[in-house]
Amino acid sequence: MGLPFIGSAIPMARNPYKFLQDCHRRYGDIYRVPLPIYPLVLANHPDLVSEFMEDTELKYSMSAPIQGRRMQKAVTSVGCPVQALEGQALRDRRKKLMPMFGKKHLAVVSDKFVEVFTDRIDRWLTVAGTGQEVNLQAELPKIVLPAFMYAMFSTKLSDDEVMHADTATRSVMRAIASGLFLATPPNVFPLPGKENLTVSGVHLMRTIRGMVQERRANPTNDADLLNILLGARNDPGNPLTEVDVYSEIMSAIGGGYETIVASMSWTLALLLQHPEHLERLYDEIAMLNGDMPTPDDLPKLPWARACFDEGQRLQGAPINPRYAMQDTELGGYPIPKYTLVASSLYVVHRDPRWWGENAEVYDPMQFFDQDRVNARPRLAFQAFGAGPHHCMGTGMAYMMAQYLLATIFQRYRLHLRPGWQPRQFFSLSTLVKGGVPATITRV
Ligand code: HEM
Repeated sequence: MGLPFIGSAIPMARNPYKFLQDCHRRYGDIYRVPLPIYPLVLANHPDLVSEFMEDTELKYSMSAPIQGRRMQKAVTSVGCPVQALEGQALRDRRKKLMPMFGKKHLAVVSDKFVEVFTDRIDRWLTVAGTGQEVNLQAELPKIVLPAFMYAMFSTKLSDDEVMHADTATRSVMRAIASGLFLATPPNVFPLPGKENLTVSGVHLMRTIRGMVQERRANPTNDADLLNILLGARNDPGNPLTEVDVYSEIMSAIGGGYETIVASMSWTLALLLQHPEHLERLYDEIAMLNGDMPTPDDLPKLPWARACFDEGQRLQGAPINPRYAMQDTELGGYPIPKYTLVASSLYVVHRDPRWWGENAEVYDPMQFFDQDRVNARPRLAFQAFGAGPHHCMGTGMAYMMAQYLLATIFQRYRLHLRPGWQPRQFFSLSTLVKGGVPATITRV
């Protein structure tokens, strides 16, 4: 399968979702895709996924091992985010970050999310009822990013800073995505009026440096990620390096808001096509009596949560990979050292064995009905990964999604452009190609 040297890189780059779905239909639960640099093995059965994602014996690693274990160790000792660590170092770092993600802390940041979400979503009043079409996917970062920065770093970003931070994050993600799949590279040339990595990247670094310097000059008692990281920087037993601190901040910004923007875009794109599911959401949020939700309300908004999970299911991601760090075996097949082993969320999340014959249809009952949830394997749904690197922000993600759905639909009705259908666009996250076109009216 594939061409000499480049293997299947071209069809994979052209449409990784369709390519991997076709391969799954043709070759089954485990198969090899020839690619340059690393060979890729796709393993899509949840039992196989558990073997490499939930491995605790260091047979697999999340970060690229092109240099080998020793070099990897040298690089991480200079500084890196949690994603690049493994074993005891990973457990130590996650323990340091954990206070940001526990239930107790979510209650602390809840008001910050509510404050910014309300303020930003109220700005849609200027277009509501005018018939003017907006791109919901482009609107979401303007709401989610400042809220996330305020909750995580107690920092209020100006509109200009939000725009630069969003552009820089997107450009970096596109750069990584283009490295992975030869997708469209980001623009690095600073031309006026065009999104570009260089200007926005410098701007973002300045914003982060400003935040760190300001906090060092004027320490606070805020229970936020910045204080956790700066405290851990000086922890005599196990300090973080300066590079650790900066890279952790960068990765929190990239991983923490952009993922929500992408999955909320999919949720809205699909939910708005199903009036019966949408009306049930309006009914559910009516019990808030127009008030903003609190953490105590989250269990009372199960339909909102199911709508979000169902959006994430159909969003899918082409692959979530691990690298084999030694010669090993999976599903009876040999896996040579440095093979990229991955599951395709796009494929697993549409597998009729776990999701039924209508797996392509948006149906929040897939998550609302506990009998259906219990009947399928746990890793039939992998939006937040699995194992030692499982997403630390899962609780925060659900809180943001349920708050966003409540806040938006307490105020508005959104109407998709007639006849429009969402399509996947790979940019590390799976975005909606071209955005989500909609008009807004007041409830
Ligand atoms: C819909 C929203 C989100 C999605 C879909 C998502 C998804 C993921 C995935 C797939 C991983 C890798 C897990 C693995 O491969 O096993 C991950 C890791 C991570 N996520 Fe999230 N995430 C979301 C929101 C957040 C938020 C709001 C935060 C808060 C800052 C966050 C923090 C993290 C961290 C720190 C890791 C690294 C964990 C590690 O490497 O040990 N995520 N996330």
